[in-house]
Amino acid sequence: MSMERIDKILSSQNIATRSEAKELIRKKKICVNGKIVLKPDEKCNPETAEISVDGKLISFKKYVYIMMNKPSGVLSASNDKYAKTVIDLLPKELQRKGLFPAGRLDKDTEGFILITDDGELAHKMLSPKSHVYKLYKAVVDKILTDEDVTAFKNGINEFLPAEMKIIDEHTALVEICEGKFHQVKKMFQAVGANVTYLKRLRIGGVWLDETLEKGTFRELSPKELHELLCTKHGI
Ligand code: URA
Repeated sequence: MSMERIDKILSSQNIATRSEAKELIRKKKICVNGKIVLKPDEKCNPETAEISVDGKLISFKKYVYIMMNKPSGVLSASNDKYAKTVIDLLPKELQRKGLFPAGRLDKDTEGFILITDDGELAHKMLSPKSHVYKLYKAVVDKILTDEDVTAFKNGINEFLPAEMKIIDEHTALVEICEGKFHQVKKMFQAVGANVTYLKRLRIGGVWLDETLEKGTFRELSPKELHELLCTKHGI
């Protein structure tokens, strides 16, 4: 990472706004590598420098990775004029420039959505070529049959072959690595079933934390971040 202004680093980490940083510097509260910072435009490499605020070392995070249990009724978009978005559900201290939901869940779909500012990781996670499978639980309005399972396995319309497992007459698990518009709903529609409830349970090797209430979130652990791009699949 390149050299950055100290005031910019502090604001990117939600530690202080640019004007708060100026004030902290005036009060000699900021140190970089043990030396008091005298001007907001002093630069350092935030990935290697030891930066302290009021004597406490800060841990610099280049990117954030947030697992949210998206509730129904909220848009998976960064901002919207009228509707509430997943970004709106985050508290101020987690909101930072460039955060976006990696991939789309329909407004009425619930479950695991990743919110990040790491465009490269998001691209890898979403590209079908990466074979990162996403697991969904679907409830449908018809009785599911083994023929439906076979239809999914053979590949429905324009979609790649997919594994579907019947849990009970109206409930199934489905695993896909594409993320086409309304994909799961369209696949079920093709076998004559309307999806009445849809929830994403897993992305790659990471399960939605079931202790997360709808609309709540937490940061991914380093282990989970590593497992996000896992290509192993099978229900
Ligand atoms: N497939 C859908 O149809 N909807 C979603 O939200 C996700 C996958």
